[in-house]
Amino acid sequence: MEKETKAQRVERLKREKDGLDIMDDIRHYCQSGEPVDADTIDRLKWYGMYTHNQHSSPEGRQFFMMRVKVPTGNLTIEQVETIAGISREFARNTADITVRQTIQLHWIEFANVCTVLDRLQAAGLTTQNASGDCPRSIVTCPVAGHAHDELLDVSGIVREVDRYFQGNHEFSNLPRKFKMGISACGRFCTGHEVQDLSFAAHQLQGGRVAFGVHVGGGLGSNQRFATNLGSVDAQQILPVAIACAALFREEGKRDNRSRARLGHLLEDMGADAFRQALQDRSGVEFLPATSPALPDPRQRQHVGIEDAKETGYQHIGTAIVSGRITGEGLATVARIAREAGAATIAFTGWQNLILTRVPRQHVARATQQLEAAGLSVADHSLSARAIACTGLEFCKFAISETKERQAQLIKALQARFPDFKEPLSISLSGCPNGCSHPNVVDLGFVGWKVKVDGELKEGFVLHYGGRLQGDGSRFAVRTNEKIDADQLSEFVIDLIEKYRASEKPSLPDYLQEVYS
Ligand code: HEM
Ligand code: SF4
Repeated sequence: MEKETKAQRVERLKREKDGLDIMDDIRHYCQSGEPVDADTIDRLKWYGMYTHNQHSSPEGRQFFMMRVKVPTGNLTIEQVETIAGISREFARNTADITVRQTIQLHWIEFANVCTVLDRLQAAGLTTQNASGDCPRSIVTCPVAGHAHDELLDVSGIVREVDRYFQGNHEFSNLPRKFKMGISACGRFCTGHEVQDLSFAAHQLQGGRVAFGVHVGGGLGSNQRFATNLGSVDAQQILPVAIACAALFREEGKRDNRSRARLGHLLEDMGADAFRQALQDRSGVEFLPATSPALPDPRQRQHVGIEDAKETGYQHIGTAIVSGRITGEGLATVARIAREAGAATIAFTGWQNLILTRVPRQHVARATQQLEAAGLSVADHSLSARAIACTGLEFCKFAISETKERQAQLIKALQARFPDFKEPLSISLSGCPNGCSHPNVVDLGFVGWKVKVDGELKEGFVLHYGGRLQGDGSRFAVRTNEKIDADQLSEFVIDLIEKYRASEKPSLPDYLQEVYS
């Protein structure tokens, strides 16, 4: 008999047992202490869990990473304390903020999984739908409802869409993952260009707010900017999202995992037929597509101190390099947030963190406390845009370590260029899957083996010049520049020195001249 392909195996597993129906299996393995069987390991993704790589499985012991969903990107202070406690008790103090505004924990032993899931549930949190072939965490503006420059409060819509798909068996067997975004933020902070399906608000003539329906975006090997199919009203977002997920479920390709994302279906059907199918299924008539003016791509996020919509309140954004906050860090942030009277703690798509709606009279002290804890508020030109994927520390696909290297790199750059104020985005991805968006930032370093003195070592390939800017978006250019991972800081310092000695107006301009 011919060997099953990867796609055939995944499709068979999904048919045999739905990824959402494994709670009994999870409880069985928690209690029995038996090693988890291979099929259940694959289905654990529907509960946000992956096994560690060999690198982080000492003596062959099995450890798991676990992704906790954070609907709207906002947690209460109590929820942050719960996660901090779990991190310290069961996850060796790990806690990483991800670009989809979730929290990822590591080093979880299966015997503890049920306790962890129960504690999360008691705090109103879940890992369900955090990964797997289903609708994932919806990215949105972390200060939705309280941003001074937003067109509309979308937090209620995000919750409604999330609740609809959460644990919904009708949509738990999609051909592939399905990533949505919804935002009405004046900064367009959610990167609507690279979601499978996203709704980004703009104002029509006369003041009416409509949402552009952007379909088929993707990153990594599915790199594609979403196609703008038209506009809909706020109350039409849920029916269009349901129609889109159903179309994907029924028509998406299931025979090849690398051609199975929504963008591939859109390409196969053509934009007009796809739009028509969405309209027919949802009963929503789309308005014509418009291209609103977008802010500078480097300003499309919330950092530092910003006024909230409510008079007398401010948001305090702090830059977390690589998103590595730790359990200890979360506990510290929760304490500061509580003392300052913050409403929530929010995670951003740049792996950063915001204390939302802090009464103005407490802002200076809270900022001081955050800075004293090593969480930068004021100096964020480099650190707020420094992101990294899970990397070699835990991920099976990784070639190179990322999070620690990113931290070292930013430290080295801040020491060498204390006056550097150009907002520069730098992403480190451990392999070409590009989980940390290396192709839509200024400088992307993608894990690659490099030869040093005849030996293959951890390294990176330089990508540069990616930008998200609506119709003017472009993916980064991959160069042939291969860098020994241990020389990364020296390489970037040298690059910036040469750029500063040049006449070029920005680093991407300089790189274009050098590498084109
Ligand atoms: C065990 C393996 C994997 C792990 C642990 C992992 C982890 C993650 C995490 C944590 C994120 C959010 C980014 C962050 O902030 O770190 C992410 C995003 C992403 N992953 Fe992975 N990933 C894995 C495998 C893959 C594979 C195999 C692919 C492609 C075939 C992939 C493609 C992506 C892409 C394109 C994103 C960006 C999504 C977005 O932000 O919209 N990942 N992944
Ligand atoms: S980019 Fe590669 S190494 Fe990094 S988390 Fe994704 S799959 Fe793993």
